[in-house]
Amino acid sequence: MKLLYSDEMLNELREKIRPYLKPKRYNHTLAVEEEAARLGEIFIPDDVNRLRAAALLHDITKKLDLSEHLQICSRFDIIVGDHPEKEQKLFHSKTAPAVIREDFEGFYDEDILSAVRWHTTGRENMTVFEALVYLADYIEKTRTFEDCVILRNYFYNELEKGIEDPFETLRKTMVMSFDMTIRNLMEENGLIDLDTISARNSFVLKNCFTDNIKE
Ligand SMILES: [Fe+2]
Repeated sequence: MKLLYSDEMLNELREKIRPYLKPKRYNHTLAVEEEAARLGEIFIPDDVNRLRAAALLHDITKKLDLSEHLQICSRFDIIVGDHPEKEQKLFHSKTAPAVIREDFEGFYDEDILSAVRWHTTGRENMTVFEALVYLADYIEKTRTFEDCVILRNYFYNELEKGIEDPFETLRKTMVMSFDMTIRNLMEENGLIDLDTISARNSFVLKNCFTDNIKE
């Protein structure tokens, strides 16, 4: 059964997360919440408050350093790759679900945990819920990085044209986002997580949103 989150619970959550985040990250988090709600109204209007909760929690371990992440990984049996020092950007999405379980009991919710877990790399066969948290993080209004602006404009322009099914626009936007991420990682000689490649390929193959197929 899906848990429901009242506006009051979200107000409390907004305050509870504050000490977990640096001020800039807190502002980003609130912007992701707004963006996720906006996307939710379009795609899964019954789940807007759950999307807001996932957005508020998505970066909850972002300020931890590598040794703190590794401690959480060992306590919760989270698998660490062979090159942790080269994958530091990925750790917060692995450790956040454990911290949500422990510190945010009322928000123990499989959709929230999986959206937080996969918000950085993506994964094969993402749900609509996961994709919306991922995309909200990418295109929220305080993002000024060129790719973020391009992606945000593409997505909302296509929706506004209203020519294709919004889910098709979402799918194409997800492909573009992974292409951008992979290109940037290649340019900076970074490692490309295999989940990112699987995510990209599954959106290219239209093997996505199987949770939301309309009868
Ligand atoms: Fe984020």
